[in-house]
Parts: sequence; C-alpha cells; structure tokens
Amino acid sequence: MKAVTWQGRRKVAVETVPDPRIEAPTDAIIEVTSSGICGSDLHLYEVMGAYMSSGDVLGHEAMGRVVETGSDVTDLKRGDRVVIPFQITCGDCYMCRTGLTSQCETTQVRKYGCGAALFGYSKLYGQVPGGQAEFLRVPYADATHITVPDGPDDARFLYLSDVLPTAWQAVEYAAVPDGGSVTVLGLGPIGDMACRIAAQRGLRVIGVDRVPERLARVAERGVEVIDLDAVDEPIGDIIRGWTDGRGTDSVIDAVGMEAHGSPFASAAQRSAAFLPDIVAQRVMDTAGVDRLAALNSAIDIVRRGGTISVSGVYGGMLDPLPMRVLFDKQIQVRMGQANVRRWVDDIMPLLQNGDPLGVETFATHRLPLSNAAQAYDIFQHKSDGAVKIVLDPTATS
Ligand SMILES: NC(=O)c1ccc[n+]([C@@H]2O[C@H](COP(=O)([O-])OP(=O)(O)OC[C@H]3O[C@@H](n4cnc5c(N)ncnc54)[C@H](O)[C@@H]3O)[C@@H](O)[C@H]2O)c1
Ligand SMILES: [Zn+2]
Ligand SMILES: [Zn+2]
Repeated sequence: MKAVTWQGRRKVAVETVPDPRIEAPTDAIIEVTSSGICGSDLHLYEVMGAYMSSGDVLGHEAMGRVVETGSDVTDLKRGDRVVIPFQITCGDCYMCRTGLTSQCETTQVRKYGCGAALFGYSKLYGQVPGGQAEFLRVPYADATHITVPDGPDDARFLYLSDVLPTAWQAVEYAAVPDGGSVTVLGLGPIGDMACRIAAQRGLRVIGVDRVPERLARVAERGVEVIDLDAVDEPIGDIIRGWTDGRGTDSVIDAVGMEAHGSPFASAAQRSAAFLPDIVAQRVMDTAGVDRLAALNSAIDIVRRGGTISVSGVYGGMLDPLPMRVLFDKQIQVRMGQANVRRWVDDIMPLLQNGDPLGVETFATHRLPLSNAAQAYDIFQHKSDGAVKIVLDPTATS
C-alpha cells in the first residue's frame, strides 16, 4: 500500500510499504478514507527526529471502513464506518475505565516512561504505524474506535480522532467560570476549535496568533483577536487592559514546544535535530529545549487564582519555569494528551444537530495522499492559507 513515511528533518515521502495484516486477535484493519495532518506531526517533522526511524508511517487522525477483524473483535464488522482515536486503548484497565484513555495501562510505553501508545508517533509512543496510509492496523480495535453513521463525506466526524476531543478537553481543563473569559494562545486547528467550543458555551474568548488567516477565521466567529506581530507591548498588559486589570479567568496554551519568540530554545531544538539520535535524546532529556514563549505568556495573562490548560505538546525534561510567579499567582495548571473516548458522547450532539462548530468547512485543504510532502510543507509554513489539511488516500492525484 501507499503510506506517508518520515525520512528525516522536514522530509516525508509517500512510499510503498507492506499492507498491514491482523497480528493479534484483537486487531482490525481499516481502509482509510481521510487522514488529518496535525500540529503534533509537525513536531516529528521538525524537532523530534531523535525518536523517529526512517520509514516510520505517520498519521494519527484517520477514519475509514473496516475491512477485516481479528477473531476476538466483537464490536466491529466488515463495512462499519469508524473514526480511529489517536491513542490506542484497551478499554478495560483502571485508566481506561476512569476515562483517562491516554494513560491506558495496557498500551503504556513503559520503556520510555510514556502514556498510552499512539498511532504514528515516534518511539516514545510505541512506534506504531500510523494512519496517513491506505490501510491501518488498529490494535485493541473493540475499544480503539468510534462508530459513526454513514454519510456523504468524512468532514462531519473525522475530527473526533483528535481535534475535537483535544479542543474540548482544553476547554474543560480550563475550568472557566460561567460567563467568564478565556485566552486561547495559538490558532492552529486545536486553538481554533477551542475558541469555537468556548464561544459556543457563551464565554468571552480572546484568540492570539500571528497568522492573518488564522486570526480572521476565529474573528468571524465573534472571538476578539490579538496579532502577536502587530503589537509592541506584552500580550498580558493588553489583556489586563481589557479585563479590569486582572487578566482572563483561564488561558489555553494551544501552541506547544515550537512557540514563536524563544530564540535560545529554537537554537537548542535545531542543534538537537542534527545530532545522532542517541546524543540528541540525551540533549532533549538534559537541556531546556522547549520553546516556552507561549507557556510564559499564559502564566502572565491568567488572572490570579485562574487556570492554565495546556494542550500544546512539550517534550523537554528540564525546562526552566517561573515557579515563584506560578505559586504567588495561585495558578492551577492542567495538561496532557486528550482522552479521546472520554469526550465523544459530549461532542456527538454538536455534530448531529446542525453544525454549530463549523466542522464541515473546517479543513482548508483536502489533498490526495500522494501530495503529502507538499501538504506538510504548506502546513508548517502556514502558506497557501493552510490551517487544517486532510489527506485522501482514495483520491488519485
Ligand atoms: N494534547 C493533545 O492531545 C494534543 C492533540 C493534538 C495536538 N496537540 C498539540 O497542540 C498544539 C497545536 O496543534 P495545532 O494542530 O493547532 O498546530 P499548529 O502548529 O498549526 O498551531 C500552532 C499555532 O500557534 C501559533 N503560535 C506560535 N507561537 C505562538 C506564540 N508565542 N503565541 C501565540 N501563538 C503562537 C502558530 O502561529 C500556529 O498558528 C501542538 O503542540 C500539538 O502538538 C496536542
Ligand atoms: Zn494530533
Ligand atoms: Zn486501558
């Protein structure tokens, strides 16, 4: 089959790889009809090479149809239309039963001290072949799927794989009081969707980014926006000026480790990306490699006693944080990979009664799988108006 493979820093290629097959009785194979590219894929593309191998199949936002099931799979049959959560979950362990599916104790990657295995996401998360491919093997398929109704196209449900539950969890963890305010840092797919969800709940939402199309998309939905590149005072000062001198009740960091505006860490990330894996892994573990500009802004922007919800992914082990400010401002911080299955029942009604979140028109690009190299390039450079790109393995280029 054809699949998008990681080849090195800023290099992906569509290659022919062996078709996946049932390896355990709990597996299923799906034929992929849509597969998103995520900001998390950009981290693999740019800085996380130390944990990748040439030829790894990328992608963790897939949906499609079941073509084969293992002998122990009882909940799925050939032809079912399914969205595949980005994490692999057994559905049965203590963590899965408490809704913390991203911490599944059956699939945790203990070798690296990491949580649940993820599709297409580096050695840290199990090096499981991903879904930017014609077919995908789904381990623990009875728990690792969301069945969705048949419909004319995939856009309605595809984002249940990642964007919707991640943005939903970001808003839940932000714990914004009723009628309160939230700043969303970063307006890529995750921040954009978090703005939509928060606005839909009647909250005051302020969105921050530096990409004009991204700012315009949320502004159209009633979000107040700040263009990072158009201001010359700290964002925190501006937002305090808009909120009785306090800052917003909550802040969502939807940026993560590659934030703009952290020159020292940018250099550290670049050098780590060029070192041999074994050395780079040491650097990632012992130096402050995350770019913390967004997280530091969040700490500044949030009001005293407020909450920061971090959905942006961080990867360093020794990042310097302003503990005095965090402590003095009495800030609560919640973070983590989204627990996809935990939020599906809450989100589903918003996908089935009208389209209040605008999922049908959320993607800016739907491209054949064979265009993956171009797709990664424009998504990383935020060129050609790219905000959300979906790859279509069924299209011929
Ligand atoms: N927690 C989870 O389960 C989960 C799931 C999906 C994605 N993520 C993470 O969420 C983050 C966002 O993902 P995405 O798909 O929206 O990616 P993205 O890269 O498209 O979006 C990031 C946005 O942040 C903006 N930005 C950069 N520096 C900034 C700064 N200092 N202040 C404000 N904005 C800034 C960029 O211009 C960009 O628009 C990534 O770190 C991704 O890995 C986490
Ligand atoms: Zn993702
Ligand atoms: Zn589990």
